[in-house]
Amino acid sequence: MPGTGSRWWPGATLYQVYVRSWQDSDGDGYGDLNGVIARLDHLEWLGVDGIWLSPTMPSPDDDWGYDVSDYRDVHPELGTLADLDRLIAEAGRRGLRVLLDLVPNHTSSAHPWFVEATGDPASPRREYYVWADPRPDGGLPNNWLAANGDSAWTLDEASGQFYLHNFLPSQPDLNWWNPVVHQEFTDILRFWFDRGVAGFRIDVAHGLYKDAELRDDPPAPSGDLIGGRYGLEQVYSANRPESHAVFRDWRKIADSYPSPRLLLGETWVTLDAMAGFHSEDDELQLTFNFPFIFADFTAKGLAGVVGDTLAALPAGECPVWTSSNHDISRFPTRWAGGDERKARLALLILATLPGTLVLYYGDEIAMTDVTVPVELRRDPMVPGGRRGEGRDRARTPMPWDASPSGGFTADGVQPWLPYGPHAERNVAGQRDDPDSTLNLCRALLALRRREFGGRLVSYEQLAAPAGVWMYRSGDLTVAANFTGQPVPLPALAGGVLVRTGPGGVNAGSKPGSAGAGLALGGADAGSGSAELLGPWAGLVARS
Ligand code: GLC
Repeated sequence: MPGTGSRWWPGATLYQVYVRSWQDSDGDGYGDLNGVIARLDHLEWLGVDGIWLSPTMPSPDDDWGYDVSDYRDVHPELGTLADLDRLIAEAGRRGLRVLLDLVPNHTSSAHPWFVEATGDPASPRREYYVWADPRPDGGLPNNWLAANGDSAWTLDEASGQFYLHNFLPSQPDLNWWNPVVHQEFTDILRFWFDRGVAGFRIDVAHGLYKDAELRDDPPAPSGDLIGGRYGLEQVYSANRPESHAVFRDWRKIADSYPSPRLLLGETWVTLDAMAGFHSEDDELQLTFNFPFIFADFTAKGLAGVVGDTLAALPAGECPVWTSSNHDISRFPTRWAGGDERKARLALLILATLPGTLVLYYGDEIAMTDVTVPVELRRDPMVPGGRRGEGRDRARTPMPWDASPSGGFTADGVQPWLPYGPHAERNVAGQRDDPDSTLNLCRALLALRRREFGGRLVSYEQLAAPAGVWMYRSGDLTVAANFTGQPVPLPALAGGVLVRTGPGGVNAGSKPGSAGAGLALGGADAGSGSAELLGPWAGLVARS
């Protein structure tokens, strides 16, 4: 394994590979593990430190792998265990660690545990899941809602009891009050860690335990994106304090390896609750920051949530910065509205905050959401089912080149989700253009690795004109203009290293290059002169 330093993730860049949309190696229109191997060179070239693979385990794919039917194997459509072993080895040769996606909140209804639990109510597997009798009037056990807006309870006709599913009816929730479930998962963790998996992204980490009394969830404060679900606050159906003990146990296992394994939680919670999953550096090492993801793309909005995040996290704990994933709109659309200047500014910020950066595939070329026609939609996790506006828009094939198949699959093969405008925006085209977003992203990751690699650097917000966010991150000064006007900046102490505008990638090596940053008076040379920062432009300078 590359660099066996125990805490390699501060300053590191992880990259989420949505396997089904990354590269198809066998011409069936779905990406697969051999496709990931074939494209590892791109990630090495880009300069990332590790990858998180979206679910790779066998699954009926009602929720595209988040409905697992076997926790110790590889989905046959994606490859074999041997392919995954090879992927880990090939990635390791390129200095890349591999994280898998672990889904401990629920299984597929096709998992043998659930098949046994429903087939024989006297089976010990019955207690692996959450069951409840109907109310005396025959009604639902409580008011909990699933992620598609329907009731979280489905009647098991044979037994007359309801089972809980916080997601689809084919994703029954596990019963974490049962110690045997803990044992199953500690064995699963070891199974993969022993194969060289560097860690897990833990799905719905805040959800494992449910209220033992199954009390009704209370109404959510209006407009609550965090912790709220269709008007209810998930106080009892998720977010129970008992889940912390699970992560304390898993952390001990992760830390027992000579190269400690990484636990990265999907924590769709407030900043305070997120900080709670780090606890005393004895639970999750990393947690996804949803308040940051949902912040307004303004100087005030982002500076505020970054300051609050760092204040909330216990000292020494490492924050995570990400802004796209397979569940939400991509940031070049959501934050930038398709304006590439804004997407580049977002990349500059993501790459220069202290902590761990997690990119989503396509972020590096400012890939935007793709409108998927109703008849081609594949995501069922929407009110009313598959025909609604779901998450497909952020899951379309990676555009590698301008060929008809975008380099994703064989020509003439129908991809599982439609292509975006790949003739205009693709990896090959951007590699050839020194001013492209791809080359900017690569320069930022190189700078990040040089400056932050293996370290959690300090952060300090600096005084700045209205609409501008300036901060010091380690030995770097960052200025980001969130307005449509050029803004004069206070004098910079050191030379400019990277700018978001044209010519900005080599700003450090080409003193005087103007780019969208419009250097006045040779700020690149570090003269301390004033600088005019272009509309929606950003720069990184030596402090
Ligand atoms: C997580 C996943 C999402 C999935 C859900 C249920 O939020 O990111 O894609 O649908 O959990 O597993």
